[in-house]
Amino acid sequence: MLTRRDTLWGMGGLSLALTACGQAGSTQSQQQSKRNLLKIPELLSGTKRGVYTEYNLKIQNGTSTFFEGRSTSTIGVNQAYLGPTLKMDVGSTVRINVNNTLQEETTLHWHGFHVPAKYDGTPHQTMMPGETWTAQFEVRQNPSLFWYHSHAHKQAGPQVYRGLAGPIIVKDPNRLEPELPDSYGVDDVPLIVQDRLFGNNGELIYARSMHDIMMGMQGDTLLVNGIVDPVFECKTELLRLRLLNGSNARIYDFQFANRQSFLMIGSDGGHLEKALEMSQLRLSPGERADILIDMRHGEPRQLIAASTSNEMGMMDGAMMDGGMMGNRWWPGNDREDQDRSTFNVLLIVPNAKLDPSPSVPTVFMKHAAVNPADAVRTRQFVLRMGMGMRSGNGFTINGRSMDMGRIDERVKLNTTEIWEVQNASWMPHPFHIHDVQFRILDRDGRLPAPHETGLKDTVLLAPRERVRLLLSFKNYADPDIPYMYHCHILEHEDAGMMGQFVVES
Ligand code: C2O
Ligand code: CU
Ligand code: CU
Repeated sequence: MLTRRDTLWGMGGLSLALTACGQAGSTQSQQQSKRNLLKIPELLSGTKRGVYTEYNLKIQNGTSTFFEGRSTSTIGVNQAYLGPTLKMDVGSTVRINVNNTLQEETTLHWHGFHVPAKYDGTPHQTMMPGETWTAQFEVRQNPSLFWYHSHAHKQAGPQVYRGLAGPIIVKDPNRLEPELPDSYGVDDVPLIVQDRLFGNNGELIYARSMHDIMMGMQGDTLLVNGIVDPVFECKTELLRLRLLNGSNARIYDFQFANRQSFLMIGSDGGHLEKALEMSQLRLSPGERADILIDMRHGEPRQLIAASTSNEMGMMDGAMMDGGMMGNRWWPGNDREDQDRSTFNVLLIVPNAKLDPSPSVPTVFMKHAAVNPADAVRTRQFVLRMGMGMRSGNGFTINGRSMDMGRIDERVKLNTTEIWEVQNASWMPHPFHIHDVQFRILDRDGRLPAPHETGLKDTVLLAPRERVRLLLSFKNYADPDIPYMYHCHILEHEDAGMMGQFVVES
């Protein structure tokens, strides 16, 4: 890495360009003076064993260096912090052996995947210290970026925070996609975006106050693939970034410092119908986006993320005491920026000579028409942060905190339903559902924005907002082992804003 960094810095004229465009994020840790090369997670394609493609994952404690001369205790998969990118082919059957070498219980969940409940990696599939758990399932997803992470009972927050997460890229080997950049680590790059809080000794600081639980754990340093303030050397005209908000609680508005536009081509669970030109993109914890950046102008470009403190909604709400927060809260509906932080995500530096990229197709896929009449019933979910949070009873869905021994909803296999989710609190919550990719019907009665019309497994609810989702339960039924739905602010999930459903045949 040092050699590559030296090479990059040694290139004529580059450091000048870097200085000219590299703007320091206001809350970015100041200890960092030099730019670091982006780390590309190792690609793990698995080993063919009969009908299975097999992956071996070892969850381990590690020591990482995020700042020169300071070490940090972390958790990783097959490495010290985060894990490799699992590449999976649509239609293949994968077998994943997960060995827990930690001194604590953990699980590994395949976020966004449609798998049998017993292989979902929830708290019902806990691995004790030293234990190995094997999950096997057919890859039924559309090509997209997914991720794996700890779903340990009441410990997902601290474990993901220390690094227990990694990307999954699903590819379709039969339907070739020559029209899109797909050379891993060259013009197809996953970005795991996470904020962290460090102590002076370099150790991670996690949720020390009630405030951190209520607002979700937020840090002042941004890690991208485990690197602070990274730079990426771009060799191609088009760069495809697969963004994952892997933070515990922070919501980001991604954009370029110079406001250059980009194309969004995919959401959580697959391609959009067509490429959308955008200049700002909001992602909440758990959400993903596939974007293309045109680098033919040959200039370095700084991708940044603006983030609003999760408290904003609360404060506005307390002052206004009305049901109109939804309108003011979304980007573009001017709200004051005083409580925003701006982080550097990635500095993209193009080579002097760029390899040609294919032109972007205008249409990717056709999604089924969204028809609420397909639904056999509507279920209501009300997210609330009430009093008594000290006891953990304050974070509820439909008035109840998570109980592993209670099944909250029973749905029928091969049916379609509408889930109407209402945020009854004054702060935003990203709502995630296991087992399915859903479609957004409407937000407070209004059609979703174009970039939210594709496949989703996580949806952000603004304070006081009501969102209707259309979802179908297919292939897998198990009357005993549940899937989860929950807020993806991990401190809220751990504190009980989660429920369980089973799919019955
Ligand atoms: Cu990404 Cu139930 O989690
Ligand atoms: Cu999930
Ligand atoms: Cu929440």
